[in-house]
Amino acid sequence: MLSPERLQRLQRHAERLRQRPLRALCADSVRARDWSLSVGPLYFNYARQDLDDAAMAELIELAVISDVKAALRRQFDGEIVNVSEDRAVLHTALRSDVGEGDVARAARTQALAALARMRELAREVVDSDITDIVHVGIGGSDLGPRLLVNALRRPDARFRVHFIANVDAHEAQRVLAGLDPAHTAGVLVSKSFGTRETLLNGALLRDWLGATERLFAVSANLDRVADFGIPADRVLPIRDWVGGRFSLWSAVGFSALLALGGDVFDELLNGAALMDRHVADAEPAANMAVLHALLALWNRNARGTTSEAVIAYDQRLAQVPAYLQQLRMESLGKSVDRDGVPLPYATAPVTWGGAGSSTQHSFFQALHQGSERLPLEFIGVCRPDHDHLEQHAVLLANLLAQAEALANGQSSDDPQRHYPGGTPSSMLLLDSLTPEALGTLLALYEHSTAVLGHLWGVNAFDQWGVERGKVVASRLEPAVRGDAADDIDDPVTRALLQSFRRD
Ligand code: F6P
Repeated sequence: MLSPERLQRLQRHAERLRQRPLRALCADSVRARDWSLSVGPLYFNYARQDLDDAAMAELIELAVISDVKAALRRQFDGEIVNVSEDRAVLHTALRSDVGEGDVARAARTQALAALARMRELAREVVDSDITDIVHVGIGGSDLGPRLLVNALRRPDARFRVHFIANVDAHEAQRVLAGLDPAHTAGVLVSKSFGTRETLLNGALLRDWLGATERLFAVSANLDRVADFGIPADRVLPIRDWVGGRFSLWSAVGFSALLALGGDVFDELLNGAALMDRHVADAEPAANMAVLHALLALWNRNARGTTSEAVIAYDQRLAQVPAYLQQLRMESLGKSVDRDGVPLPYATAPVTWGGAGSSTQHSFFQALHQGSERLPLEFIGVCRPDHDHLEQHAVLLANLLAQAEALANGQSSDDPQRHYPGGTPSSMLLLDSLTPEALGTLLALYEHSTAVLGHLWGVNAFDQWGVERGKVVASRLEPAVRGDAADDIDDPVTRALLQSFRRD
């Protein structure tokens, strides 16, 4: 865990390095080559991060002294690491045998059985006259499957898959317009089967379908699913040791399996398993997830930056920043440690981003000449799945150019045309966007998030912070519907409610 003394030393390194422009650090060709790592189809180059050997040694020592390897081993083996919910965290069991011991092996057996049941149910849907799948879920019950379908879907796919997440019924209205209920199936995904938005959208979909025979459910709460009216033979269970934001590898990914096919889903799992084994075996200094986490901690706690931006230079990965917002910020957005003791340092930065090259025409101005040097992570795909090779060359040239220009800057006597440089970035390159490469990439982010949680001493696997808003919303609902607002004690809310009621 990050001690005050270690934090102070890291901050002194950052202070020392302010005297050395990032451009000078990156001028070393040996560093340009050696500050990199490959795991299967994934290449990670961090040579443009704003630190030197001495600072990196300090970070590696933090990882070693914090015994991140032992922490990961406890997680992979199914110990109760999600202490506030008294649960194990075993999304790795959904795709690999990296866990040791009875608990992990039992989870792995359950996961393989669930996968077999997913494929069996998928075959039934494939053999039907269904053409469209409507996936209803929110948060981790939406973002992962949505990312997979957007990233990997093919035009000749057996099904068109659509997503409804927001309780704003404009989304459902738009999704359902033009679909034929007789040839549409619904997949209601909710681990708790208590999420109000999903239950409302599920009821809306059930009414629109006019029949429950084409409704499937994915949940850990089978009683609530039965109460909703979906029979057990159309329910895919998920276990409580799979956290929502870590669940796309489970039956939560059923819509993706339908959209992409079982073989693609298997390749995705295999890609994640590759990263699992690397993370379990590699020493901190050669461990991609540990290095990824240490660099995030360096930028956040030593350099004091407040956000991390992920720019995917492949439009098929445009969903990655939104997916990472939940994974990183719902996991790490805490201010007390696992025992409830307030933390003396900052934790989760704001995760944001978008797709390049489009974002070069939106927020890149601020990255080049704004008042903060915000750390970036670029994701690139070397080989395209189209034959417009000139356009792909332009895309990759922009990817490389932006990282270089933001790091090196360009001075000018004209202040309007002065580029300070100094923006640190990492580069993640995939050979091509295969299901395996995507699985490896997403597993990297999961493990980096778990390592960061360990280093910061937070429970990266619960999410109590999301409950407060739900309690207040349920209290306000009657007043918004027009009932008496006498018990609304917040004056601003009361004034806003009045504005809703303008005649
Ligand atoms: O945002 C809170 C949260 O519980 C997430 O962690 C979860 O992914 C999402 O809501 C949906 O929860 P459920 O799958 O239980 O509907």
